[in-house]
Amino acid sequence: MEFLVKFVSVVLLFASSVLGVEIISVVEQSVFGQGDECYGTHVGFGYSGTPEFHYESLLRRYRGCKHVEGNLEITNLQSDQISYDLSFLSTIEVVTGYVLLGLLDLESIPLTNLKLIRADNMFNIMGEDYGLVVAFTDAAGENKNRGLRELQLPSLKEISRGRVLFMQNPLLNFVNTIAWNVIVPGVTNPVTYGDSAYNTTSLEVCDPACENGNQRFCWGRGPKMCQIVHFPICDELCPGRCYDSTIVGCCHPECAVGCTGPSNSDCLMCKYFKAGEACVSSCPGGVSVRNGQDCLED
Ligand SMILES: *[C@@H]1O[C@H](CO)[C@@H](O)[C@H](O)[C@H]1NC(C)=O
Repeated sequence: MEFLVKFVSVVLLFASSVLGVEIISVVEQSVFGQGDECYGTHVGFGYSGTPEFHYESLLRRYRGCKHVEGNLEITNLQSDQISYDLSFLSTIEVVTGYVLLGLLDLESIPLTNLKLIRADNMFNIMGEDYGLVVAFTDAAGENKNRGLRELQLPSLKEISRGRVLFMQNPLLNFVNTIAWNVIVPGVTNPVTYGDSAYNTTSLEVCDPACENGNQRFCWGRGPKMCQIVHFPICDELCPGRCYDSTIVGCCHPECAVGCTGPSNSDCLMCKYFKAGEACVSSCPGGVSVRNGQDCLED
């Protein structure tokens, strides 16, 4: 199997000199990752090339990707010459580093299937480490009515490390309705609200379907944007998450999100990798023998 892959890529590399551009996308797959996996970036608010080139490289990097190894940085999408379509982001489920959303004047960021931000690597601003940063999402130009209005992270269940920062998002709605302490475990005040963190005079309200107790929790308009909140009863001594039920119990440290029992095969989601039914911190055959979180049979 491995031999075949190598052989095919050698043939393709050879063919690329004959066929030119067509083959570049195939070679890129090996640079950007394989299967459901892709590699993130580490440039912060920077970018290189023209706005068009920058947008196209985001597309190439993340299209079809489920598992981002590294940081997901979606920034510098502010050209009024480009009609941005970020729907390709909806395949992403896991980010192993931090998520940075900034310098955007788009209405929404459709990371609708993102479940876990593991934040192995955190974004440091002024001495504080963050797993999620949303900043400078108002329009760069004249039009002050353009900018981020909805965060749209309805599947987000855990930010394993770091805190959350919002600043300069004057049009952003709903983020103050989110129960952040359920997403960021073990941190008392998980969110920093900087200047114009969100629209504090917003009249937008969550859909009635988002009601839980006497409160509504949501990421955007409509019933699909509800935050589904379970408030687990958690003992302070639990090392990670707690049972996703009314029974008090600590999840196994290999679990992300929550669990139904104490073992590493009772996890709602794995923090690192999944070998058969069990969550593990490394795959039996070594970390390269996997696709995203799934360990592969060698
Ligand atoms: C905030 O929301 C209110 C009501 O929805 C709206 O009138 C106002 O323009 C918004 N603020 C900004 C800065 O857009």
